[in-house]
Order: sequence, then C-alpha cells, then structure tokens
Amino acid sequence: MEKHPLVKEILFSKEQIDTRTAELAEEIDKYYESQDVKENTVILIGLLKGCVPFMANFIKYFKHECQTEYMVVSSYLGGTKTVGEPKINLDLNISIKDKHILIIEDIIDSGITLDYIKNYLAFKGAKEVKVVTLLDKPEGRTVDMEADWSGFTIKKEFIIGYGLDYEERLRNLPYVAICDTDKLKDWKW
Ligand code: IMP
Ligand code: MG
Repeated sequence: MEKHPLVKEILFSKEQIDTRTAELAEEIDKYYESQDVKENTVILIGLLKGCVPFMANFIKYFKHECQTEYMVVSSYLGGTKTVGEPKINLDLNISIKDKHILIIEDIIDSGITLDYIKNYLAFKGAKEVKVVTLLDKPEGRTVDMEADWSGFTIKKEFIIGYGLDYEERLRNLPYVAICDTDKLKDWKW
C-alpha cells in the first residue's frame, strides 16, 4: 500500500476496517432488534466531518430501519490537541423526543465532545443515546465516557486518515495511520 509521507505507521487497512465495521453493524442490529424502538426507527447521528468514511460504510451493513442525521461539533480547531468547550456549529432540525439515538463518531480521545453531545441529546428528550466509535484512545480520557461499541482500541498517538484530519487534510487516506508528528512543524502542504 502506498504511504503518505506524513504516515509513520499504518494501523488498520481499508479491508480490516471494513471487516470490523460489518461486525459492529451486526452486533448493533441485534441490540436494536431486542429493543422496543419508537416508530421502528433508530436515528443515526454522524458527527461531521470525521464520521464520513466510517458512517458511509457502516450504514451499508446496518439493517435496522434508520434515519441519518448529522451534527457539526468543533473542539479541535485543527491542531493535535482538544481545546476548550465543544461548540455546536450544525444542529439537528428534527425532534428526537423519545427516540433511540446512535451517535457515530470517528474517535474518542478526551471524551469531552461526546460527553457534551450526549448530555445535549438527553436534554432534547432522547429516550436513549448510544455511541459507536471506529477508534478509541482510552489513555486520552479526561472525563468519564465510554462508547457502547468500539471498532479498535489504540494508544495515545495522533491519528490520521479514514476521516481523521490534520489541519482538515488527510481525511481521504483509505487507512487509519499514526501521524509522523516530527514532520509537522516544518511541513508544507
Ligand atoms: P475528544 O473530545 O477529545 O474525545 O475528541 C473528539 C474529536 O477530536 C474527534 O471526534 C476527532 O474529530 C478529534 N480527534 C481526537 N483524536 C484525534 C486524532 O488522533 N486525530 C485526529 N482527530 C482527532
Ligand atoms: Mg470527530
């Protein structure tokens, strides 16, 4: 596989991600089949922009009736560290009262973004808010927040590709990789 120069190590290939995504979708399907889901629809909420490749793949395997919605929540401001309180830049325009919600996220690091969004959706009257994340960096946690389903657990490193960005770039890499952060300080796009 051809490697972008900012890649230190490829962690998961497209094929590995695909296989794991199908497993997650099957498991999550089973969960919702066991629930009494209002109007039989699960509301999938993708957190843009990082969720795009994972969510696009996930919904091809997810069989339960669902609606797809999106929110834009910013917390990262382009760098490699989470800064400040998350901000909702694009909100939902449907009612989620009494609905089953599944948030689709690319990665959980500090947990701040999801903690904030989960509380927000609960406040809006959701019956239940579950979370599936492609990647989980448990060592980064600063708040008590766990995903209900997670694709892969990884070490505390800066990750790029498959939706994850550095300065809004590299989301299009077809794999998940550790970024070679030593190269970033004098990197020219
Ligand atoms: P948290 O609020 O610290 O859990 O971070 C959540 C958001 O930060 C994720 O949805 C990502 O968009 C971004 N993020 C966290 N870790 C990384 C990373 O290693 N690379 C790129 N983006 C990241
Ligand atoms: Mg994100």
